[in-house]
Amino acid sequence: MTGTKISLDQACRTLQSGGVVALPTETVYGLAADILNPSAIRQIFQIKKRPLFDPLIVHCSHKSKLRYLCKYTSPIVEKLSEYFHPGPLTLVLPKKSHVSDVITAGSTKVAVRIPDHPLTLSLLEKTDMCVAAPSANLFTKTSPTRAYHVMDTLNVPVLDGGPCSVGIESTILEVNEAQKTLYILRPGIIGINLINHFCQKNHFTDWTIKYKSSTSVPGSISSHYQPDVPLLIFNSKKSDNFSDNVIDIEAQIKELYPGRSPKELKLQEEPWLCARELYHKLRQLSKDPNCVGYIIKNPLFYKNSEEWTAIWDRLEKAAFKTI
Ligand code: TXA
Ligand code: MG
Repeated sequence: MTGTKISLDQACRTLQSGGVVALPTETVYGLAADILNPSAIRQIFQIKKRPLFDPLIVHCSHKSKLRYLCKYTSPIVEKLSEYFHPGPLTLVLPKKSHVSDVITAGSTKVAVRIPDHPLTLSLLEKTDMCVAAPSANLFTKTSPTRAYHVMDTLNVPVLDGGPCSVGIESTILEVNEAQKTLYILRPGIIGINLINHFCQKNHFTDWTIKYKSSTSVPGSISSHYQPDVPLLIFNSKKSDNFSDNVIDIEAQIKELYPGRSPKELKLQEEPWLCARELYHKLRQLSKDPNCVGYIIKNPLFYKNSEEWTAIWDRLEKAAFKTI
């Protein structure tokens, strides 16, 4: 598959004439179309082979667009946007009637965020558009964090904004005003502690923050982000001797997958760096069709933190199984 690189002006014109364009964001590349053009929105689903029950995130350039897209009364909504936007936080709120049901997959709520990438912000400002944009990959496959990741798999025009700085998808936060609750629907690099800090600092102390099981997100399925080769996660124990572990694991893989070569996917120790390189590393695994990727999950090394929660959420969905 060969997508083509285009300039910012060409990207604006393509969107204005009802086409789709792959755009850089700080999280992953998105496949964008004008929210007011129903046939362009349908193209996104066709190109990604994405089922229509999986709703799309709307991207805009300024918090004033929240009022245009969503219904809310509490000051927490705009404060969240002031504090975290542009950035990797998506807000889910009741939608206004002009936001198409195709975008929200029939839900009365819409997901919105302001992406933190200068090219995409400039495009949204120049066109004065809001665009719906899922990650620019085939459904269930690994999200792209470089322009050529998109061009390798989708035949679409791509605005090249370099490597994504965050590397995993935004945190999705549903704002439930009636329950005074913020529900984390998808973990991301902005975790519960940061959101809690925001609530304390801005005097929203009567709000509760909770994780909601991922099955409650329409598009959440247990297999996602998958590379083209099998990926296995091995839980290692504290007392394990590391090198014995590798020999043992590789022997198990050779027995499970005769003729294939085991390849360890080593994760960086620092979670922000790990997230940034994660999908690139998963794609590199797929380049050797005869390999089986594996990760050793050592509890000593991968400390329990919000960032790691988001990273393991992706890896566990990308993995064929955990042993
Ligand atoms: O970082 C990101 O969020 C990237 C970049 C491109 O912005 N986008 C992204 O989009 O990850 P996508 O479509 O690959 O994942 C969006 C997730 C899906 O699981 C979908 O179900 C959920 O957001 N979502 C979208 N609209 C929703 C809504 N109205 N209510 C609940 N979940 C929603
Ligand atoms: Mg996606």
